[in-house]
Amino acid sequence: MMDIRFQTGGGSCWKADAALAFFFEGEGPEQAAPALEQAAPWLGIAPAWRDYRGKKGEVAVLYGPPAMELSRVAALGLGDRKKAGAEGGLTALRHAVGGALRLCREHGLESVAVDMPSVERIAPVYGLDAPRLAREISLAALLGLYRYERWLSGKDASPADPRWMAFLFREKHVDDAVQDAVRLAEAEAAGLYLARDLANGPANEVTPVFMASTAAELASRYAEYGMKCRVLGPKELEERNMGAFLAVARGAERDPRLVVLEYAPKGAEGRPVALVGKGITFDSGGISLKPAANMAEMKGDMSGAAAVMGTFEALGRLAPQWTPPCPVVGVMPCTENMPDGRATRPGDIVVAMSGRSIEIVNTDAEGRLVLADAMTYAQKTWNPGGMVDIATLTGACAVALGKGNAGLFTNDDSLAELLHAAGCGLGERNWRLPIWESSREILKSNVADMINSGAREGGALHAAFFLSCFVEEGMRWAHLDIAAADAGESPINAKGATGFGVRTLLDAVRSVEQWRLN
Ligand code: BES
Ligand code: MN
Ligand code: ZN
Repeated sequence: MMDIRFQTGGGSCWKADAALAFFFEGEGPEQAAPALEQAAPWLGIAPAWRDYRGKKGEVAVLYGPPAMELSRVAALGLGDRKKAGAEGGLTALRHAVGGALRLCREHGLESVAVDMPSVERIAPVYGLDAPRLAREISLAALLGLYRYERWLSGKDASPADPRWMAFLFREKHVDDAVQDAVRLAEAEAAGLYLARDLANGPANEVTPVFMASTAAELASRYAEYGMKCRVLGPKELEERNMGAFLAVARGAERDPRLVVLEYAPKGAEGRPVALVGKGITFDSGGISLKPAANMAEMKGDMSGAAAVMGTFEALGRLAPQWTPPCPVVGVMPCTENMPDGRATRPGDIVVAMSGRSIEIVNTDAEGRLVLADAMTYAQKTWNPGGMVDIATLTGACAVALGKGNAGLFTNDDSLAELLHAAGCGLGERNWRLPIWESSREILKSNVADMINSGAREGGALHAAFFLSCFVEEGMRWAHLDIAAADAGESPINAKGATGFGVRTLLDAVRSVEQWRLN
């Protein structure tokens, strides 16, 4: 991951292969980047200004004499200043930064710089303070550079990332708040990189055992801060009567794992927060087999677990500077969902860990089954103060909300507000959908306590209702359906997984004091 640094002392001390400068429509260099003019005195007379408009997405690379300490400036157009504060405005800025870092990489540049005076100038336009915007710029830069190249035999041929990006200060000292914000962005990026790697990884590599060893390795890196991993295999799952989870795992040759991360740093007290992530490493649908088209995408059906894992990576990175006020536990039920002679058949009845019987009428509605037992396990083991689950749960959620949005379901209004504001502010949009009693009728079985899948219409709501049946009385709980959360390719998202959820979950943990007390 590219390093992020700081330079102090003003323009005469600044040095980088290129600087980024932000322009709203119609602005010239004298308004947009006055601080840069000392380091790049050629900037004001660069001929490219003649045609530059600062439109959203417009990029011009301006060149000064090569001998100067700052001989390149990438002018990033942010569009209409009046629209920047509205929904989508910050996305344009993130894309501009991500795109610029990619451009620097293509050009083989080793270093990039962003002057803090211009960050201070534009932050209020987005309704943010300067440290917060520095965080967004840092993260967008790192996300723009993300690539999944693990399996490319020619990968040595692709250009290397810039070695560092620096924030430039006029003052002699680095602002502490900016430094903290940048460290936070680096932690988020590390979590997002991990989540993306896991979700992009093929199902023949990213198996339940792989998820377990990834978690074990993660916990060992942060053991000194109180991070631990435990893993339950098939025998332990049976001993704990996790009949719903095991029903999904039956058809797979690869054994399931319940992967648990526990983070209890010094000073963390009280009931923990539980994060539960769906970890279906491949969802073929089981006996209720999915059609062939796009089935390969189902290697990403462990994106919920990946987001939880990424959140712990971020928490570990943050540990030297920040630790949560209460413990955090992550529970990731990991298995394949496969058809086989031993696989669960439609019509089979199983008993979940909570004691509820479930008639499995559709083996493709497997996510709710593994989550039901994982949530019961979390509640019985830790009696958490609150619980958030995250899952690529229903295609219906994609139909309801469209790409780039998560469905948010919760039994707690203050948690709804908090998660909605957090997600939308962080570029992980979610929208609240209801959990209604009418789903109970739809999930009625003739022969068991409930069926696992009812009507197609409102499928995301019925799935959420199903999960709510495994939430204990009084438990504060939210469910994020991220089946369609990936917005697709963009300058901060290489084709493939986005790591959606890491920022939201980390933010939920960071503000846990608020939502546990309200
Ligand atoms: N993993 C899928 C949901 C999914 C679909 C995620 C498309 C990402 C993209 C889930 O296990 C599933 O198969 N859901 C079924 C539920 C149905 C059988 C009630 C669905 O959405 O069709
Ligand atoms: Mn499925
Ligand atoms: Zn699934």
